[in-house]
Amino acid sequence: MSDDDAVEALAERLRGASRVTVVTGAGVSAASGIPTFRGPGGLWRRHRPEELATAAAFARDPKLVWEWYAWRRGLVASAKPNRAHEVLAEWSRRFPRFRLITQNVDGLHERAGTSDVIRFHGSLWEVSCWEDCGRTPARWRDERAFEDLPPRVSSSAPGPRHPRPGRRRGVLPPRCDACGGWLRPGVVWFGEPIDPEVLEASREALDCDVCIAVGTSAVVYPAAGLVTTAGARGAFTAEVNPEATPASGAVDLAIAGPAEEVLGRVDRRL
Ligand code: OAD
Repeated sequence: MSDDDAVEALAERLRGASRVTVVTGAGVSAASGIPTFRGPGGLWRRHRPEELATAAAFARDPKLVWEWYAWRRGLVASAKPNRAHEVLAEWSRRFPRFRLITQNVDGLHERAGTSDVIRFHGSLWEVSCWEDCGRTPARWRDERAFEDLPPRVSSSAPGPRHPRPGRRRGVLPPRCDACGGWLRPGVVWFGEPIDPEVLEASREALDCDVCIAVGTSAVVYPAAGLVTTAGARGAFTAEVNPEATPASGAVDLAIAGPAEEVLGRVDRRL
């Protein structure tokens, strides 16, 4: 099937759909200048996940982990949603029932205007109590915690080295108001379970007419299994990604190309 035919085939399915679910990964934010994890220049090419994205890493060196997330927040703060985020936000208004499940923690879908995003791996913009003291919500947005944004960042910045001078150096991570324990980033780390409410919302979202995986390498479970589950339940499934992934052979339609371009082309045909 030609590239154009594939785009038209997806558009045709969407024209007849009312329940549409999209599962996104880091590739959706690549055109906004946010590094992916596994691609060229990806975060896991430069850093070892077990040193930065596990509970054991935080227990060992909470300041390092906090600063790495602060660096990532800085990258995102200076980035803008791209055409892929914008098209998905338009679709959230167009389809009678649209669900967006994202593995991304950057908040760019929300900034583009999609509401009710199912944040599978949490958010860079929330915190939770490391002690799990029970006197706070499970996760919340805490402006104080984000005062350590670096004044200026670039996507080529080598890593977390920019606490604002004179403010928080040596006192990271910030403390929980309720119990005085550390605050941790409100993200899901390797080895941690997905929030049961998020899992439940995702399961419901997989009962749909069309399910599209966009910009994910489809290697991190349980997120990687979402699209095939939707297919098993009867949805038409598609993938949008410039590279083949383990899901490519399992979906009904794999479209090779960048999300910001392919989704725009599909949208123009709706
Ligand atoms: P990855 O970095 O594993 O994969 C990014 C995917 O995006 C790759 O398949 C690329 O081919 C694709 N890609 C690159 N540019 C693209 C573009 N312009 N348009 C569309 N696709 C593009 O990122 P994720 O699959 O999101 O988890 O990673 C899954 C999880 O692993 C993350 O949520 C994170 C990470 O470790 C945790 O931290 C728990």
